[in-house]
Amino acid sequence: IPLPVDLFGAGGHRNSAGLDLSDVDTLTATVKVVNAPLSQGAFPREGGGPDSAQSADRATAREPEGLDPRLRGGTVSDAITRAHAAFPGWSRSPVEARAACLDRLADLLETHRDELIAICVQEAFKTIPDAIGEVREAVDFCRYYAQQARAKLQPIELPGPTGERNMLHIEGRGVWATIAPWNFPLAIFLGQTVAALVTGNAVVAKPAPQTPRIAARAVELAHEAGVPADVLVLVTGGPEVGAALTADARIQGVAFTGSTATARKIARALLEDDSRPIVPLIAETGGINAMIVDSTALPEQVVADVIASSFRSAGQRCSALRLLLVQEDIADGVIEMLSGAMDTLRIGRAGDPATDVGPVIDQAAYDRLMAYRARVASKTVKTLDVPADGLFVPPTLVRIGAIEDLNEEWFGPILHVATWEAGKLSETIARVNAKGYGLTMGLHSRIARAAEVIEAEAAVGNLYINRSMIGAVVGSQPFGGEGLSGTGPKAGGPRYLYRFCAERAVSVDT
Ligand code: SER
Repeated sequence: IPLPVDLFGAGGHRNSAGLDLSDVDTLTATVKVVNAPLSQGAFPREGGGPDSAQSADRATAREPEGLDPRLRGGTVSDAITRAHAAFPGWSRSPVEARAACLDRLADLLETHRDELIAICVQEAFKTIPDAIGEVREAVDFCRYYAQQARAKLQPIELPGPTGERNMLHIEGRGVWATIAPWNFPLAIFLGQTVAALVTGNAVVAKPAPQTPRIAARAVELAHEAGVPADVLVLVTGGPEVGAALTADARIQGVAFTGSTATARKIARALLEDDSRPIVPLIAETGGINAMIVDSTALPEQVVADVIASSFRSAGQRCSALRLLLVQEDIADGVIEMLSGAMDTLRIGRAGDPATDVGPVIDQAAYDRLMAYRARVASKTVKTLDVPADGLFVPPTLVRIGAIEDLNEEWFGPILHVATWEAGKLSETIARVNAKGYGLTMGLHSRIARAAEVIEAEAAVGNLYINRSMIGAVVGSQPFGGEGLSGTGPKAGGPRYLYRFCAERAVSVDT
């Protein structure tokens, strides 16, 4: 039963950048840019079109050609040396000066919006709506952290009952390593990086090996906005570059978004050398995110939110829904509606504005997901045809017997569905919690008590009730998980900047 709704239409995230799919002129301009070769020649395509297996098979990262030589990090050690030398001056600069750099960067991101959208589409195979959202979120991070820095990083005078003058200062810690994922190659790359910068740290920033070009452009723009070249140094490459970065004892903090396994490796690396300072790790990893649906939910809304949460961005969001838990008495009906709605999904090239689900990021991801699909073929209740010439993983619905049957995060458009018994909401939440992840969870119910129960019992960083589970908005839905999903800091939240800071209390006997 196809749903008569525009599942991915305009709406949702509209914070500050003001770009929306309903803005037809902007969209037309964007599509033109996305589908034309980039005029600068600074970001040449490798191999075939964005969706070709050839271009997606990129095991080894290369520094983007045409990169401004001042952006090149040289060896990782050289990059850290430069940032380390630049740190004291930057850290002493007024908060206002640093915040102004972020505001200027936000302006530049907006000025270069179409180009950035184009790179996101070409390099990360984002759909056009996702690429628009990506630039918008990056702008939001810059403006929000600038505003937060102005409000939160001023010294505080504390009581001095014995006549002392007590001041509490908040400042940068030193050189941070920011290590970003390919699925938000601009927004998360910049979000982590500008948070570290505005708090007075120098940064060595490493994008994912799949997406160096958009990161290089972002760093160029940050420099144009006034961040000194040595205060923000880009290094590109794969895990060996990340390992060299986190192994260096001069790194005073790491902000990482990626897999749980890599977060563990970083945590170990930071603790390995006994002579090294103990430094903070901010890790935001994945999840086996569940949505619980009871029999009072509105099925049409459930289906629209499930489709968006599971299949938008080809399921390549850490927030994405992986496990749909439907109360057993309505399960067959919901699955039937969901199957009908899946038929409306348009699968195609990233640069086509009609596309809902584009290709996955690379050949390795494609092979992993397709092998898993083959393994669960006998449990598959719905799948779709996809174009043959690209890394298109068919959106797939897999019916599993029990919550415990899914123990791995499958980072693609594969949704699992299981049932739960009426009256066992707490037990169902506990069984999801028991997986140890804690990023997003959802509930669809019209029972106020059910919302209270899940709010009290879900061990997750982001809980979504009667809505989709993706697209956290900077400043409104601070984002980040707990347990196997991360160390807890909330990107885009009012306390995030503190995590990048050192505090110093100064007491003067007057
Ligand atoms: N912040 C993204 C979302 O909410 C995931 O990283 O979907």
